Amino acid sequence: MSHAPIPRFTAVAPLRAEVSGWRRAGERVVLVPTMGALHAGHLALMARAKEVGQRVVASIFVNPTQFGPNEDFSRYPRDTATDLSLLAQAGVDAAYLPEVSGMYPEHFSTRIEVDGLTEGLCGAYRPGHFSGVATVVTKLLNQVQPDIALFGEKDFQQLLVIRRAVRDLDLPVEIQGVPTLREVDGLALSSRNRYLDADERARAPHLQAVLARIGEGLAAGGHAGPLLAEGRAALKAAGFDPVQYLEIRDAETLAPVERATRPVRVLAAAYLGRTRLIDNVPANPAGLA
Ligand code: PAF
Repeated sequence: MSHAPIPRFTAVAPLRAEVSGWRRAGERVVLVPTMGALHAGHLALMARAKEVGQRVVASIFVNPTQFGPNEDFSRYPRDTATDLSLLAQAGVDAAYLPEVSGMYPEHFSTRIEVDGLTEGLCGAYRPGHFSGVATVVTKLLNQVQPDIALFGEKDFQQLLVIRRAVRDLDLPVEIQGVPTLREVDGLALSSRNRYLDADERARAPHLQAVLARIGEGLAAGGHAGPLLAEGRAALKAAGFDPVQYLEIRDAETLAPVERATRPVRVLAAAYLGRTRLIDNVPANPAGLA
């Protein structure tokens, strides 16, 4: 079935005019920020957006300031035509595709820094990454002015950083997290999965399996030390190298925890060949749903 092309905006003023018209008419507007290379995980975010609001805006912007000098900014997959057609099929009302020069005009000199939450996990391995994310997301929220913005739980630290920035800066928007969508073998959907060769793709689901095993161990009253040691050995045996981190953290504060006495998150980042994969799973103390 063919779909009408999706209305597409690159400038802020006409998009804001459209969004404010919707809001004046009593429609709740939901923003789903993306970097494109859309997959079924993004489409699940669009579907959730349609459930929680009446109008959906998806942004596509490969944000240069959240990539380090040795990261994959230049080879990050870009396929705008396919992305726009997927958004049209998903019933998204508007696509926002800002230009780099519009987002970061000459002499751009303001950044959002979220302390504490950004210090460990991915923050330890990607200096400046979360400042780039918090800055661009704050700008996107100001530009689009939605009622709600959705983010995937796959980037769990990112979700908490954005929530904190929005709260600290009194931005008038509700941030909602959406559970990770997985392949049937457990691999979390990610735009970077397309970098994996066949052998790496076959090994990749071990990441989720190891996290899930640790989660089960915690729910059964286990301690972090032995569970993590066993998990690290299993990741190495499956070919992940280096394992940047495998950690158990409080699900709200990201403080390290020894046992699951409150909801926790088991999180990891590890390389398969040249591809860095991240994933996380929730774990609750026994008796807590
Ligand atoms: O998760 C992403 O795709 C990006 O980090 C985001 C939130 C769109 C900001 O560039």
